[in-house]
Amino acid sequence: MHAIVITEPGSPNVLSWTEVPDPFPSSGEVLVDIAASAVNRADINQRLGSYPPPKGAPEYPGLECSGRIAALGPGTETSGWSVGDEVCVLLSGGGYAERVAVPVGQLLPVPRGVSLVEAAALPEVACTVWSNVFMVGALRSDETLLVHGGGSGIGTFAIQLAHAHGARVVTTAGSEEKLERCRELGADVTINYRDEDFAARVKEETGGNGADVILDIMGGSYLDTNVRSLAVNGRLVIIGLMGGRSAELDLGRMLVKRLSVHATTLRARPVEEKARIVSEVTEHVWPLVEKGTIRPIVDRTMELANASEAHRVMESSAHVGKIVLTR
Ligand SMILES: NC(=O)c1ccc[n+]([C@@H]2O[C@H](COP(=O)([O-])OP(=O)(O)OC[C@H]3O[C@@H](n4cnc5c(N)ncnc54)[C@H](OP(=O)(O)O)[C@@H]3O)[C@@H](O)[C@H]2O)c1
Repeated sequence: MHAIVITEPGSPNVLSWTEVPDPFPSSGEVLVDIAASAVNRADINQRLGSYPPPKGAPEYPGLECSGRIAALGPGTETSGWSVGDEVCVLLSGGGYAERVAVPVGQLLPVPRGVSLVEAAALPEVACTVWSNVFMVGALRSDETLLVHGGGSGIGTFAIQLAHAHGARVVTTAGSEEKLERCRELGADVTINYRDEDFAARVKEETGGNGADVILDIMGGSYLDTNVRSLAVNGRLVIIGLMGGRSAELDLGRMLVKRLSVHATTLRARPVEEKARIVSEVTEHVWPLVEKGTIRPIVDRTMELANASEAHRVMESSAHVGKIVLTR
């Protein structure tokens, strides 16, 4: 088969569409013929050499895909899946390829009403947002969620899912155009982080209380401001380190307000945990997608073999939602 190979750590030019050995499903795995994949920020970090795949994962980038089951590996014959089924898949790597072998617990059905290509844009954002905002952050419908980077793949999904659950959604982004898209997706309050102090605005919009849950992609550079933006019993869930990996934490403020800070990554979780998340997403999130309450937000579709250009687009942050790669 062909896959995108990272020839050496570096610029998008190091991504090369190359002939590589075919994958085979081991015990508990199925083989998927990939129709489409999608780009995630993590793929850029992998390309740069700072986010290697976990042990046992395919070496090629790509954390999600859609396609058709090509073969069932040992032990998956009674899983309920059959050769030819259309699926979308949460991966630990290997989505930028023609085929991938994946643990059977990481397959999701393609939601009714969603095309096979659009379905590639769903697994990573749905599993990340569900596991962090709802399983870790325990957001309730009478609470306020602050989502940083509302125009991102993650942000566009988080806004829709929290809004669908009845929560109030506050979001940040760096342009009026992105903020407008966030409002269309259900954000109640939008803040341009380039010219507003988001902590002050969150306080103002919540009657001085602050946000109950924050989904953060910045890490170090936002830690103090995030902690200041939380309500009593607030939960900060950090999933990205775009603003660095370390910063000072005001424990006094945390004690007084009974705050918690979580940091998680989906990719490194054990297979059983991923299967549990996938199963919860299928049960709780897919019905909302099938009703059209939540839509895959696809900024553009590009050729998989031209992944280097897709990485340039993501690095420019010109996109809103997901960049999908097709064969
Ligand atoms: N831990 C996990 O399991 C997990 C899983 C998936 C994704 N993630 C993380 O989630 C983040 C988003 O991923 P993605 O694939 O959705 O990336 P993406 O689409 O490229 O989004 C990144 C966004 O960050 C925004 N941004 C940049 N600086 C900002 C700032 N100071 N304040 C607020 N927003 C800012 C950018 O747009 P503007 O600046 O134009 O607003 C852009 O929309 C990444 O950090 C990724 O690593 C983590």
